[in-house]
Amino acid sequence: MRIFILSRGAYLYSTQSLLNACYRKGHQVRVLDHMQCDLVIGPDLYVNHLGDELREVDAIIPRIGASVTREGAAVVRHFELMGACTTVRADALLRARDKLVALQILAARGLPVPRTWAIHSTEQLSFAVKALGGLPVVVKVMESTHGTGVLLAETAQMLLTMTDTLLRSNQPFLLQEYIREAGGADHRMLVVGNRIVAAMRRQALPGEFRSNLHLGGAGVRIVPGPREQELALAAARLLGLGVAGVDIISSSRGPLVMEVNASPGLEGIEHATGVDIAGAIVKWLERRVREKRKRNDGSNRS
Ligand SMILES: Nc1ncnc2c1ncn2[C@@H]1O[C@H](COP(=O)(O)OP(=O)(O)OP(=O)(O)O)[C@@H](O)[C@H]1O
Ligand SMILES: [Mg+2]
Repeated sequence: MRIFILSRGAYLYSTQSLLNACYRKGHQVRVLDHMQCDLVIGPDLYVNHLGDELREVDAIIPRIGASVTREGAAVVRHFELMGACTTVRADALLRARDKLVALQILAARGLPVPRTWAIHSTEQLSFAVKALGGLPVVVKVMESTHGTGVLLAETAQMLLTMTDTLLRSNQPFLLQEYIREAGGADHRMLVVGNRIVAAMRRQALPGEFRSNLHLGGAGVRIVPGPREQELALAAARLLGLGVAGVDIISSSRGPLVMEVNASPGLEGIEHATGVDIAGAIVKWLERRVREKRKRNDGSNRS
């Protein structure tokens, strides 16, 4: 198979891990920087990458960073329209990256999520705080990653200052109930197709409520319960993601889907669990490409 990994960092762990998995399985593979991919329409669709005209492709593995989601999604869409199978489709990437859209979709389909308010004025703060069960509440800046835009507002004054600053600078954010009983832990489930290939419990450092490994959180392998598995698979399916990192937080109301990552990092979870996740992703793509070829052969014959 001819596979392109879309990544801005050829030497990043996840990119390398995927690259090696492709080599091991004997595929032709290249890492393309999606910000160096010119999208050409004229009249056929192809991609110009630093002077190379790319027309033949079986599959892509997009690893699009949050700061270039829109640009990356355009490249993914172009490859999709050229006939490539992908671990994440452009529309699913856009949907999952917007924390508000993702929560709207999951909640509308009946999945349990933390209670969340999107407000447009500080006048709504007192209603929101009351509905979220009182202080503290979590403030989530929509465009954040690695836990950096997730803040705990412990007092009304802190909350007012944070939200006023965000509103004035036109930075969209969400207010969310604080799941104190989770004790700074959550479960990251790595979904590939309709299977959970690895799962870890992440625990935040003492005095920290965010479990992100980038913030010093530690991961250990777990065997997820049936309800968690069901939620993780449903969340990935509802957002249309072939590969996803679904974060589930344990609350007094049971497990809640906190977040769905469209480009989950592989380093922490491959190390914590010892699972060859990159290999599982490539295997799933191989199956998708085979199925697509069969469908195409069938329709060419008829
Ligand atoms: N409502 C909440 N109650 C308790 N803890 C929370 C809540 N929301 C987030 N956290 C903690 O903060 C961490 C980071 O939050 P979240 O995953 O929403 O943002 P992010 O990691 O910055 O986003 P991304 O995964 O897209 O990079 C979570 O892993 C969790 O440990
Ligand atoms: Mg997260």
